[in-house]
Amino acid sequence: MPWKRRPFTGRDLSAALNIADLREVARRTVPGFAFEYVEGGAEDEATLRGNREAFAALRFVPPTLIDTEGRSLATQLLGTPCGAPLAIGPTGLNGMLHPQGDIALARAAAAFGIPYTLSTLSTTLLEDVARQAGGRLWMQLYVMRNRAIAEDIMRRAAASGFEALLFTTDANVFGSREWDKRNYRTPGRPRMRAVLDTLRHPRWLTQVLLRHGIPRFRNIEAFLPAGAASAVGGSTIIPQMFAPTITWEDIAWVREHWPRKLLIKGVLSVPDARRAASLGCDGIVLTNHGGRQLDHCVAPIEVLAEIAQAVGERLTIVIDSGFRRGTDIAKALALGADAVMIGRAALYGLAADGETGVRRALEVLTVELDRVLGQLSCRTVGDLGPHLLRGPGIPAAR
Ligand code: GLV
Repeated sequence: MPWKRRPFTGRDLSAALNIADLREVARRTVPGFAFEYVEGGAEDEATLRGNREAFAALRFVPPTLIDTEGRSLATQLLGTPCGAPLAIGPTGLNGMLHPQGDIALARAAAAFGIPYTLSTLSTTLLEDVARQAGGRLWMQLYVMRNRAIAEDIMRRAAASGFEALLFTTDANVFGSREWDKRNYRTPGRPRMRAVLDTLRHPRWLTQVLLRHGIPRFRNIEAFLPAGAASAVGGSTIIPQMFAPTITWEDIAWVREHWPRKLLIKGVLSVPDARRAASLGCDGIVLTNHGGRQLDHCVAPIEVLAEIAQAVGERLTIVIDSGFRRGTDIAKALALGADAVMIGRAALYGLAADGETGVRRALEVLTVELDRVLGQLSCRTVGDLGPHLLRGPGIPAAR
């Protein structure tokens, strides 16, 4: 028998060497419909694939013979010290992957000294995350047609000590995740195939469903029509409530209700980045929503350098979409990002084993990033720069 390379088959997370290994454990642990919700991209998933391909187009040019003993990932983010140039990004159905959901993610983030971003569509009340997890908390904001929902979220997040608001601007017209939709007969009603597959995951059934009931969109439940609060399939119902009417004029309205740091999550062009800066925002998140919104969309890493050149002095630049390796993170930092937001990579850990799994994901990423720093002859993340990269649009360093 020829020796075959196989995906990771273990359960011991300390033996999971990378994010792909954690993904394998996650895939085996949760029912297919939950895994598909995490995995899926919009339509033909060209954006989803493009996010990974864009990293492959960038190559390092490492300097050599430089002492890097005593390396550190510590940095500043929004004027506050941060354990690593990372944050966990907002994802909505975390309670579907593990009963501890958002609390597990937030606690793991706090243990690494990095922010956790809670989604408007979270399955845990924002007040409970603040009380039970603590740490640096950011709040993601979706604006629905009923503006009272957003105003309620902003008021409560401010009262609970959240540090920053991430006003999401790229999902007001929701993407079509066809693989996710295929799991439902009609919104909220899983197909028989999905139900049978769920029965084949007894651990998940007991831990998530039987002990806690179907996860619900706790943060906004009070505003939802009957039947829309269930996170099973609610994700296909709720987006119909999103407001396609949001504009740059609404930044002033957000500012009336939000007293702290404000980031616009959904910027991908220099003019929009300049506009965010001129309106007094504190930062931007360059994102294509992990390939879940517009298909055939540019990858954030492809536009990062030009945006950082235009507004890097004025705005905190956070980036997400497709980050799975320390090398990916190092590339973004070298091109001018202040931090990288981790989405699916953290969720694979969560699905694999709650807080322990998320900690393992963060450990994998930070150990990889530290190694890349050393291999690039850098001691701190501030030492990274475009001179260390070759690729489309990057002039060769002299
Ligand atoms: C929600 O923002 C999603 O991408 O599913």
